[in-house]
Order: sequence, then structure tokens, then C-alpha cells
Amino acid sequence: MKISMAGRTALITGGSKGLGYAMGQKFAEAGADVALAARTETEVMAAAETIQSTTGQTVKGYVCDVADATSLLNLHKAVSEDFKTIDILINNAGFAKAGAFESITDAEWQYDFDLKLMAAVRLTRLVFPAMKANRWGRIINMLNTLAKTPAKGSAPTSVTRAAGMALTKVLAGEGAAHNVLVNALNIGRIESDQIVRAHQASGANDTLKDFIAAAGQSLPMGRLGYADECASLACLLCSDAGGYISGTAINVDGNLSPAL
Ligand SMILES: NC(=O)c1ccc[n+]([C@@H]2O[C@H](COP(=O)([O-])OP(=O)(O)OC[C@H]3O[C@@H](n4cnc5c(N)ncnc54)[C@H](OP(=O)(O)O)[C@@H]3O)[C@@H](O)[C@H]2O)c1
Repeated sequence: MKISMAGRTALITGGSKGLGYAMGQKFAEAGADVALAARTETEVMAAAETIQSTTGQTVKGYVCDVADATSLLNLHKAVSEDFKTIDILINNAGFAKAGAFESITDAEWQYDFDLKLMAAVRLTRLVFPAMKANRWGRIINMLNTLAKTPAKGSAPTSVTRAAGMALTKVLAGEGAAHNVLVNALNIGRIESDQIVRAHQASGANDTLKDFIAAAGQSLPMGRLGYADECASLACLLCSDAGGYISGTAINVDGNLSPAL
């Protein structure tokens, strides 16, 4: 089966690194044009340039802080001016933030909601009308396995991610009659820049390769997932091949989660 995304434009937040970058690369390989958004200008521009030069698709980088409503408005305006349509939105920017319940301040709760939930709410509100009018749209909310199985010590992330699942279902309900399909990917542990940062922070003497191998040992498949594996699924969901899949949250976790 050949998956084609020719003629589509995808906007991917958190697109300069990790899973966002892998999806940008995969989508462009499948023929999509891609807009990548992140806060660090040099990195997002370099990421866009690399994907454009390796695929021949139009790929542009945008500076945006998705936790900021005005920044999202500016992002949508700029991408809409540069591309004819935004057919695909990947709400991906974020990072893991969790701790003991009493230790989390109001400000930390609010930031987590702005970064992970309100960013998806605000950006989807901007792209949804045109997707519905065009009778074609795909939205993926990148969440984590805690969304289905919140655990102690996992706030605020697990709470925000569970809300992301509810948002996914609401949007899928409102998009279905307009051929706008909305799904969530609940990520387990996948190699990305997060593990590179964890390795640096550990101060350990082992190599990054050994650090990643050790991190994978306790997982069901004995290894972390690869960003490319996650990107392949996203590519399927965002192509015509995924045309009847909506309103679901798929674990991408090598059976880490006990939840189906
Ligand atoms: N990898 C995993 O094992 C895993 C597990 C569960 C869930 N997830 C989720 O999957 C998503 C991608 O994770 P990843 O591992 O690929 O992360 P990553 O490698 O750390 O990359 C994060 C990306 O998001 C951008 N970003 C961070 N904060 C942002 C903000 N406020 N506004 C705009 N861009 C922002 C970063 O660029 P700048 O810093 O330059 O902005 C970067 O491009 C995240 O939502 C994460 O929570 C990942």
C-alpha cells in the first residue's frame, strides 16, 4: 500500500524535534507540504530546511509559543498566508511535567493547561471552520498513556491529557459530518529529544545509546519506541487511507499501558 498525502498541507506544533520532526519528515516524504512551529527560531528553521531539502516539498518554519494565545493567532495568520489551506493539524508541542499533588502550584497547573490543552483548543478553533468548509480535515492530539490510566504523582500531565482525550471526542463528534477526522495518539516512551535531555541531566558517564537501551529494558518490548514508528501511524491517519478512523485514542506504547 502506498500512502499519499500529495496536495495536503500539515501544520505541526513542536515540529523542530522529536516526534513532531519525525511526523514532518514522514508527511513530506508522503507528498505533503509542511509548516513546523516551535519557540527556538534557529532550530525550527533548520528543521524545515532539512526536511525541504531531503523531500523537495515546501516546508516552512514558524516561531510560536503555543502556550500563548496571541502567538497562536500570529502562527495561524502566517501559515494561512503562506499556504493555500491547512488540511492537517498536529497538536504536538509539550513536555512531561509531573510531581506530588501538593507540590504543584496554581501557576504550574495553569501553564500545563495552556501548553497542552488550551493550545489545542485555540489552534483547532482557528483551523476547524475551513476544514469543515473544504469537507476534508485531519487533527491529531498528541497525548500520553496516562490519559487513560492516570496514576499517583502524574499530575498535572495526566489530568491535562485526559482532558485532551475528551476534547478529541468532542471534536470528532462535531467534525464527522464534515469529513474532519480527529484522533489522539497516547504515547508511551519514545526516543526523542526528551531522552537526550534526560541523559544530559543524569550526569552519568554512559553513552546516549547505552542510556536509551537501559531506559528500554523495563518496557514490555525491551526497548523504547522510535519516533519514526509513531510518525508512520500519524501518516496513515492523516491520509485518505485513514478515512474512516475518527474519535479514537490509540496507544503508541508497545503495550506499556494496561488500558486498551
Ligand atoms: N517522547 C515520549 O516518550 C513522549 C511520551 C508521552 C508524551 N509525549 C508527548 O509527545 C509530544 C512530543 O514530545 P517529544 O518527546 O517529541 O518532545 P521533544 O523532543 O522535547 O520536542 C518538543 C518539541 O516541542 C517544542 N515546544 C516545546 N514547548 C513549546 C511551546 N510552548 N510552544 C511551541 N513549541 C514548543 C520544542 O521546541 P522549542 O523548545 O524550541 O519550543 C520541540 O520542537 C509532547 O507533547 C510530549 O508531551 C512524548
